[in-house]
Amino acid sequence: MATRDDDREIETPQQGHMPVMLSEAVKILAPRDGECYLDCTFGGGGHTRAILESADCKVFSIDRDAAAAKRAESIKDEFGDRFEFINANFSQLDKLQTDGYAGVLFDFGVSSFQLDDSSRGFSIMRDGPLDMRMNREEGESALEFVNGAPEDEIAKVLRAYGEERRASAIARAIVRARAESPIETTSELAGIAGSVSHSRERIHPATRTFQAIRIKVNNELGEIEEALPKAFSALKRGGILAAISFHSLEDRIVKRFFKSMAGLPQDRFDRSYAQDRVKRAELITRKPLRPSEGECKMNPRSRSAKLRAIKKESL
Ligand SMILES: C[S@@+](CC[C@H](N)C(=O)[O-])C[C@H]1O[C@@H](n2cnc3c(N)ncnc32)[C@H](O)[C@@H]1O
Repeated sequence: MATRDDDREIETPQQGHMPVMLSEAVKILAPRDGECYLDCTFGGGGHTRAILESADCKVFSIDRDAAAAKRAESIKDEFGDRFEFINANFSQLDKLQTDGYAGVLFDFGVSSFQLDDSSRGFSIMRDGPLDMRMNREEGESALEFVNGAPEDEIAKVLRAYGEERRASAIARAIVRARAESPIETTSELAGIAGSVSHSRERIHPATRTFQAIRIKVNNELGEIEEALPKAFSALKRGGILAAISFHSLEDRIVKRFFKSMAGLPQDRFDRSYAQDRVKRAELITRKPLRPSEGECKMNPRSRSAKLRAIKKESL
């Protein structure tokens, strides 16, 4: 059963994005003077700033959302040449010209800036136009998917990316509703999914539907699959690769990749022979690190976070 990032839908007590597991991530990366670091998910720049403040190093930061570029300007003003922002998908990180990084960080999913802006159409709690794209210039929006995809494809997406048990019934309800008039807003979609999915859990009954469609329109899992090996190649020897996940679909990809880099079976179904596996890294976190109780209280959106890290072999 997948855990979900519905915790990100919980209201935070303050405006903006509170960086998750900040001190743990910085401690693991252990930034050093003169080195170069890559933050693949700039968001509000919380992790980027902490890395820049902890050593006289350089940080390259990527985000696919043009709105993040605006927020990066103030960090640029403050840190000058020590900081570079790149508006791109992190699957393109190999296009950056550097001599290698001493550390690379991923903090997956959407930021509070994106969730809390109703015009982006990510939130069940805030009515807005259905969109859900992190980069509004790229790919199919949630509106196009929900109103255009065949019923069986919608059901497949809800099952695969939301692990929604009532996927077929919700897909049927979507197709029935759109035959009357296009589904244009988050509250319409939440109402349709909610009318079919009688969740007895503490989460909104449309949570899995929203998660699934967001993952689909942003190709989130494909991005992670493509970026992790590139990030590992871009690391210097002895460099650290760290990733913060918010649901089991993300965490599974990270865990399997990290284990294979550490020369271990990826999971219990891995039948490869030990002599065929190559150890290229050390697992720093045998079990994922979790946010402290204090952080979960202060920032309920951090509750589902898992931080994993590996260290590239020095020789
Ligand atoms: C959870 S937020 C990161 C928050 C950030 N660490 C901070 O402390 O402010 C994730 C960010 O990554 C971006 N993002 C997600 N997937 C991406 C991808 N494939 N390529 C580039 N940026 C991505 C999102 O647009 C979002 O701004």
